[in-house]
Amino acid sequence: MPDQLIVCQSCGFTATEEKCDGETGGAHLLKQLQTLHEQWPRQGELAIGTTGCLCICEQPCAIAYVGTGKPTYLFADLDPTTCAAHLLTAAELYLDSKDGMVSAYKLPKELQPCRVARIPPAQPK
Ligand code: FES
Repeated sequence: MPDQLIVCQSCGFTATEEKCDGETGGAHLLKQLQTLHEQWPRQGELAIGTTGCLCICEQPCAIAYVGTGKPTYLFADLDPTTCAAHLLTAAELYLDSKDGMVSAYKLPKELQPCRVARIPPAQPK
């Protein structure tokens, strides 16, 4: 199964502005990502998934990187109008890391303050 970038479709554009032109920030970000993903050379290695909430609603937009045997990274406070390309750049780092560990300083500068959690993968018994 490919690694996934999960987008919360319900997130607002900002903490105080839920929708713009009838569209949530999360829906806007999803569209931007899908457009870039269609042309992305590594498209087959990363699936774009969606969810209704990542439980960090007060800090929109939120996304997560998820991979089998890899830590899950949660990002929030993303600007849905500008972050899509940066998210795919960060996805390349995640794909290229066998154990999924990605140092914050290697992330695009715009994303560095947005990384809010790294959750370890389940350990096999
Ligand atoms: S609405 Fe996006 S995290 Fe809850």
